[in-house]
Parts: sequence; structure tokens; C-alpha cells
Amino acid sequence: MSTRSALVAAGKVYQTGGISQRVKQISISAIKEMPLIACKVGDCVSLGQGIPSFPTPSHIVEAVCSVMRKDPHAGKYTLGPGMPQLREAVAGRLSVHIGRPVDPDTEICITVGAMEALLASILTVVERGDEVILPSPNYASHIEQVLLAEGVPVFAPLFVEDWQLNVEAIRDAITPRTKALILCNPHNPTGANFSEAALRDLAALARAHELFVISDETYDFLVYDNQPHFSLTSMPELKDRLIATFSFSKKYAMTGWRVGYVYSSAALLDHIMKIHDAAAICAPSLSQHAALEALQGPQDCVHEIRLALAARRDLACERLDRMVDFFDYIKPQGAYYLMARYRVPGVDSMEFALRLLREARVVTIPGGAFGPAGENHIRLSFGGTEAEINQAFDRIERWLAGNPFAEKI
Ligand SMILES: Cc1ncc(COP(=O)(O)O)c(C=O)c1O
Repeated sequence: MSTRSALVAAGKVYQTGGISQRVKQISISAIKEMPLIACKVGDCVSLGQGIPSFPTPSHIVEAVCSVMRKDPHAGKYTLGPGMPQLREAVAGRLSVHIGRPVDPDTEICITVGAMEALLASILTVVERGDEVILPSPNYASHIEQVLLAEGVPVFAPLFVEDWQLNVEAIRDAITPRTKALILCNPHNPTGANFSEAALRDLAALARAHELFVISDETYDFLVYDNQPHFSLTSMPELKDRLIATFSFSKKYAMTGWRVGYVYSSAALLDHIMKIHDAAAICAPSLSQHAALEALQGPQDCVHEIRLALAARRDLACERLDRMVDFFDYIKPQGAYYLMARYRVPGVDSMEFALRLLREARVVTIPGGAFGPAGENHIRLSFGGTEAEINQAFDRIERWLAGNPFAEKI
């Protein structure tokens, strides 16, 4: 069943005339749609949307409460690109990370999460008919955002044996209409941490073909097993064609605060800012105060989140290992997702995920939502607590014991 027909079935789509083609061709991503359906089903446990279980650290909450009590202006609009102190803190942190200066006044804009940063970036460089390469499977919203810009998503598969970047597949996907490529590393939905060598090859390709690179760095802090993480932002030679988007959501358990930022050359940011102004005016001011405290306050919370998620990854992998007859997967190296490939022929991932939801009451995301290379998989998030993860896998095990696909296998 397609995402749209699932929505129709859930009573969420209404037919009306006059809707723009631009909007008609996009849909709410399955990541957000599955929890909506789960609400109707009731009593579900989630391995679905990537919401980490952690509360926002208390020093961040306290800082916001305090600024609200003390500063009568705290609830007002800030400057469009964000509070100067926050941009300075962001630029300071980023310049250490990338090893060269970052100008807080011309190269940073605070946004409504990475999501707004991504949309503004894509709308800035993609126009009708432009092709945009997505190494696939890929984050579902990148597809909808490219379509909203009237661009054409072009899927270049990752290597299936380890979900690493297949630079040759990307090279093969380039045509005279190719304008940009969008990359997320560490990777949602596969949990891959792309190698420096492949990223450098990709950067060389982008330069040779004069492509823009939109680098989604939402999980930049989250790699496991002491591996190195390489960011395209550390390559000065790519700077003129690179737009990097960042998020406070996962690193500081602030998904609902809706704050992130975009980093690019001043020449690009001038244009991105126009979209930000038209869409949001500024990021929520209280969330900007929260982000400032997140950057300036103690960082143990980030370390604790990383450690807890590493343990949850191991738990999810152990539980999947008990179901080897039914699933295989590649152990995630970063972020908090994995793609589990199910061995049931003739069942698409939407049907699989919907049956799992309705019959076992476990929320997962159908792999097809992440592009064609995601088919025959479900994406599992291990952002929930260990108790939730165990409960979800207990339910899946019980469901499978009942042989739900007897007619197929
Ligand atoms: C790859 C990726 N990019 C962007 C986002 C959105 O981040 P934010 O909450 O900062 O808008 C997410 C959220 O899950 C994500 O996984």
C-alpha cells in the first residue's frame, strides 16, 4: 500500500480542487505518518520516529526559565539570522570542529531545526527540472523537499553490503541537469558512518561537475566504537559549493524546541536568508536561549546520550540476532537507526510495516519511504528506552511465532 493510500485509509486525506501541483506531488513522510496511524490503533510501542527518550538536560531548562523571568524581551523576535551571542557560540564551536574561522555574521543562520535549514538550502539552489542526487536509501524528507522545489530526485544506491557510499553509482547518476547532491552523515536511515576516502572522492566529483553539496549534519556527534567522523565542512576547497545544516534536536535532546542552523559561504547565505525571512522571520527566541545554554553549559549530557544509545544499539542488534531466519541487517556505526531486511517475498515495506503495526502494535517505518533502495526493509529507531526496545522486540517475536506470512513463505 502506498503512503498516500495508507493516509486515505486513515482518513487523513481530503480531496479538494485548486491545490498547486507542487504540493499535490508531495506527501507527509511515512516517518510522521506511522505515528498518526499508531494513535488510532492504540497501545503501540515505537521503533519508529527518531525521538530520543531523554529529557532536555535540566541546566538548559533552567536557563530558559531564568531568562523568561528576568528578561522582558526574551519572548520577542530576535534578529533574523539569530541572536548574535548564539551565532558567535555556534561559529566558535564550528571553527574548532572544522579547523578554520567561521564568520558568525555572514556564514551562520539559526533556523527552525535542521528541517527549515534544509528546505531553505534546497529552495535556494534547486529550480524546476533540476536533478538532485540522493545516495539511497536516504532521509525521506530530502525527497519531499526536492519535489517541493520542483526538482527531480535521482537515487544513487549505497553499497548494500555495508551501506557505504558508492561514488561510482553517484558518478553514473550525473547528467547535464544535475544541480546538487544531498548527503546525510552519520546516516539516517542506515546508521552508516561514511568513510573519509569516499567523502573526499565525492567532494572531488562535486567540484569537477560544479554541483552543490547539501550536507545534513544532524547526527555529527553520534558515532560509536571510537570511530572517526569526517565532515565535508572540513574541506576548504568545497566551501563555495557546500551548504551544511545542523541540529540541536538529537545532540541535546531538544527535538521539540525546533532549533538548528545552516553554515555556508556568505554569498549563498545571503539567498538562504531570504527564504528564512519569508518562512520563519527567526527561529523561536526561547529555543535560541536554550541552544545558547546547550553550547555554553556542561557537555556531559552529550557523552551520556552517546553512551546510552551505544548500549541500545547493542540491545537492538542482539534482539535482531535472535531472529536471523527472518531479518538481516548491517550493524549501525552512527545515528540511532538500522535497516532490517525481512525475508518475506512479495510483501512491500508499507504492507509489512502496517501489518506489524496493526497485528503486533509495533511502530516501524517502511523502508520504501527512504527511496527505492529501502524497499524490503523496515527502519528501526533505537532512540527509545531499553524497556521499550525489549517490549517492541518481544511483540515482534510473538507476532512472528504466529507465522503471519504463512501463505507467502
Ligand atoms: C537526517 C535528518 N535530518 C534532519 C532532521 C530534522 O532535524 P530537526 O529536528 O533539527 O529539524 C532529522 C530528524 O530526525 C533527520 O534525521
